[in-house]
Amino acid sequence: IAATQTTLEITNKVVAPDGFKRLAVIAGGTLPGPLLTTQKGGRFKVKVVNKLTERAMRKTTSVHWHGLFQKGTNWADGATFINQCPIASGHSFVYDFPTNEHTNTYWYHGHHEVQYCDGLRGPMVVYDKNDPHKSRYDVDNAGTVITLMDWYHMYAPVIGPQNHPDSTLINGKGRYAGGPAVALSVVNVEKGKRYRMRLASLACDANFKFSIDGHTSLEVIETDGESTKPMKADSIQIFAGQRYSFILHANQPINNYWIRALPNIGPAGFMGGVNSAILRYKGARNVDPTTTQTPSTLPLLEAQLAPLDHPAAPGIPQLGAADVNIRLEVGQNAQTGLFTMNGVTYVPPPVPVLLQIISGAQNAQDLLPAGSVYVLPRNKVVELTIVSLEAAAPHPFHLHGHAFSVVKGALDTVPNFKNPPRRDVYNAGGGGTTTVIRFVTDNAGPWMFHCHIEFHAVYGMSVIFAADTTSTELENPVPAGWSNLCPIYNALDPAD
Ligand code: C2O
Ligand code: CU
Repeated sequence: IAATQTTLEITNKVVAPDGFKRLAVIAGGTLPGPLLTTQKGGRFKVKVVNKLTERAMRKTTSVHWHGLFQKGTNWADGATFINQCPIASGHSFVYDFPTNEHTNTYWYHGHHEVQYCDGLRGPMVVYDKNDPHKSRYDVDNAGTVITLMDWYHMYAPVIGPQNHPDSTLINGKGRYAGGPAVALSVVNVEKGKRYRMRLASLACDANFKFSIDGHTSLEVIETDGESTKPMKADSIQIFAGQRYSFILHANQPINNYWIRALPNIGPAGFMGGVNSAILRYKGARNVDPTTTQTPSTLPLLEAQLAPLDHPAAPGIPQLGAADVNIRLEVGQNAQTGLFTMNGVTYVPPPVPVLLQIISGAQNAQDLLPAGSVYVLPRNKVVELTIVSLEAAAPHPFHLHGHAFSVVKGALDTVPNFKNPPRRDVYNAGGGGTTTVIRFVTDNAGPWMFHCHIEFHAVYGMSVIFAADTTSTELENPVPAGWSNLCPIYNALDPAD
């Protein structure tokens, strides 16, 4: 299968997705950025061209391909100062990487400081002609991707961790309280057809309760790239970075219906089309819906979403009995107010961790940032026990380079080794909750593990798992463009 080749220009552009004009950081000219697709077994080859000019949101950039494992291409993972130096303005960098053995729904976003909150975010889909759920739906195309975003009227570096979004964007459109009644996104369906909707949270912070009026039997079939045993729900809570596919059966009377995405922070409730989009049946009039929300009696139960073909958690089915057992305490430094992981506030190192490894550093003590790097052996089962003492919950944690099994969620009373949910973002809660996840170190390189609330990740809630640091896989495929990034970056004015 040929590579899907694309160029993604990163520019500063004035946009007004909710009627409020602001300068933003935009990928490919649109908000969200263009949908990138390929087929199972294909590659993505994306040339990222940096044309940024606005220092206040950083002129340097990088792009992360969320949920794609980057097997053998750690250099293409996009996290600045872990996997690469930032791309300087006026320069470009080609990311060239394989798709996972699994298919489904992914996304891309800036991974340099808080830059993606200012707009650099877009959806990705890896289609599979032999999708195990194929018989369940009739339609799966660009029109069935639904992205959710929290949107801010101020620049992200200015607002910092005490942020509050101004609006919710569904497929790049929304309204803010007191703002103009701009046109909302419309999802078009035809009565009688079954649609595979791909719901992706491109949020920086907010989580959403998603529902569609009149459609109380959404059949969930994917969690973060993992096909699941179907499960019915009438509402879906989705955290930053998570994805779900669900089947929408357009079996209601021909009409317009509100699609709702109610955030936990920012514009509350539902006044004048805030937090909403429109589901429009073919034949319905071109008007706003008048439907009302039915209270949710069947919210999605994450803990019960079993994977379709990865039933068991890896390793010995007993808590604490993995090959490597790590306890991670999420907290806050009382003096600085910054977040901590096992007492350490993550601060990006001056030299990308991958470059340090390629240059010969292999032990956790040698690898910077000190106290934030955990060196792991190859092909071992790792159990992470995340104890979230930090009260400003939720904390949806994301692991780069892998999917993990959620052996015990914060709300679970007993562990599940038999068929635990498998995904790449999971909410670890807060105020003393414990979450246990497992993964296999089958992928060499330094991988970030962080809260996907960007304002938490950047203010210290991140660590690095460096697997198999002696692997020759790490340096073999590093392209010349990658090696050039650091000297160019190091010559820049730090304010860029
Ligand atoms: Cu989607 Cu490190 O993130
Ligand atoms: Cu967090």
